[in-house]
Amino acid sequence: MTHSSPRTVAAYNNNQPYSDRIMLEKLEIRDCRRADSAAIESLYPQAFPEENLLPLVRDLLNDPVVAISLVGTIDTRIAGHALFTKCGVVGDSVNAALLGPLAVAPAWQRQGIGSAMICAGLRRLEDADVNLVCVLGDPAYYGRLGFLPESLVEPPFPLPAEWDGAWQSQKLGETTTICEGRLSVPPQWLQPALWAP
Ligand SMILES: CC(C)(COP(=O)(O)OP(=O)(O)OC[C@H]1O[C@@H](n2cnc3c(N)ncnc32)[C@H](O)[C@@H]1OP(=O)(O)O)[C@@H](O)C(=O)NCCC(=O)NCCS
Repeated sequence: MTHSSPRTVAAYNNNQPYSDRIMLEKLEIRDCRRADSAAIESLYPQAFPEENLLPLVRDLLNDPVVAISLVGTIDTRIAGHALFTKCGVVGDSVNAALLGPLAVAPAWQRQGIGSAMICAGLRRLEDADVNLVCVLGDPAYYGRLGFLPESLVEPPFPLPAEWDGAWQSQKLGETTTICEGRLSVPPQWLQPALWAP
């Protein structure tokens, strides 16, 4: 999604070395605090040099009722940030959420931090009785973490054909119910530009 944008993912550099993988046990994942703002403001332009996601991130951070905001730290330095927005599905009683944006600082990428932050967020959402998590992003990445292409729950805006397969979801907990309808997102996400190339 722009918030894990398929286009950004397409620009991902797959040639980074593996040798400097960190020990994941140094990673601490915790709720974002007000004092993290400067580090988050610095992180997004590094992770997304071609798009400005900070207005969206700021808007979501200002709304702690709908947004779960997690940071991943290594030796107290912020290496990554993940946002999960609580949503609904029109005509359905399901508690849903939208994953994104997700950013890991370039120096820390491909060391498991993004995956660990997603897993931590999914656990938090499950504890909050969220049954369905949607994401718009590269299936090659999110598919590894249990996301599958979603066709019954629609994104808030129609997506271009080139993003076929990028709209995905994952059920949480024991949920077996089939949800159908449009994802109902809070105003921060009601910007068509966030859903278009
Ligand atoms: C995408 C991002 C959040 C992933 O976080 P990360 O900590 O680097 O990823 P992880 O270490 O958890 O996962 C690494 C694995 O996923 C793959 N991967 C990582 N980023 C990927 C991407 N954008 N697209 C496809 N695959 C990706 C890697 O190939 C790697 O697998 P491998 O090492 O076995 O080859 C991070 O690279 C980032 O912030 N990128 C720039 C911003 C961005 O694109 N955000 C959108 C997220 S889709």
